[in-house]
Amino acid sequence: MRTHYKAWAKPFLDEHLEISIPLDEIPNLKDFYLEIGSGKGEFLIKMAEKFPDRYFVGIEKNVTCAGITAKKMVEKEVKNAKLIYADASQILPLFKEKSIKTIFLNFSDPWPKKRHHKRRLTSDLFLKQYLRVLPKGGKLIFKTDNIDLFNDSLEYFENSEFKLVSKTNNYLGEDEFDTMTEYEEFFRNEGTPINRVIYER
Ligand SMILES: C[S@@+](CC[C@H](N)C(=O)[O-])C[C@H]1O[C@@H](n2cnc3c(N)ncnc32)[C@H](O)[C@@H]1O
Repeated sequence: MRTHYKAWAKPFLDEHLEISIPLDEIPNLKDFYLEIGSGKGEFLIKMAEKFPDRYFVGIEKNVTCAGITAKKMVEKEVKNAKLIYADASQILPLFKEKSIKTIFLNFSDPWPKKRHHKRRLTSDLFLKQYLRVLPKGGKLIFKTDNIDLFNDSLEYFENSEFKLVSKTNNYLGEDEFDTMTEYEEFFRNEGTPINRVIYER
């Protein structure tokens, strides 16, 4: 699913700083829900609408995806979600220790080539960052269509301090604290099984 570059995206993000968080305020955030790689914002916005008492933050590094999300947030006047247009590796160190309730990784890029594995959002350097920002009992929820990424990621988690809570190779969307993402909808329509795992710190 290619996202064609939209020249309006960056100017729109620059004009609508209200949907984002200034870098110097990031360390003040606490007790929120984070989606890394939020794409066009489907999950972020639907979760914010479904759970108006909770606060959601998305991080997205692709300018067009971030711009599309920002446009939806402005149109829908979303109050309890923010979007950070940046690479997560730059932002994660800014969050306060133990400040995040749950991290969602939805259909993360698979980076199939071995030399690119360290870019995966489930690679050990990222897991170390997640462990720092999650409190004891804080959760990481990962879903993907990609079985190779899923199986490799199970190994990465096994070699970390994360504790397995649940795992399925045929997630049907039954968790109330969840909603379908854009990629998920595509793969479900194709009949591709969805893998999902929940870990706890
Ligand atoms: C395959 S898409 C999935 C989008 C969405 N989560 C969904 O399920 O529909 C993965 C997204 O993660 C973003 N991404 C990948 N690595 C990232 C990083 N290090 N920081 C921020 N965003 C990232 C990509 O730009 C892309 O938009």
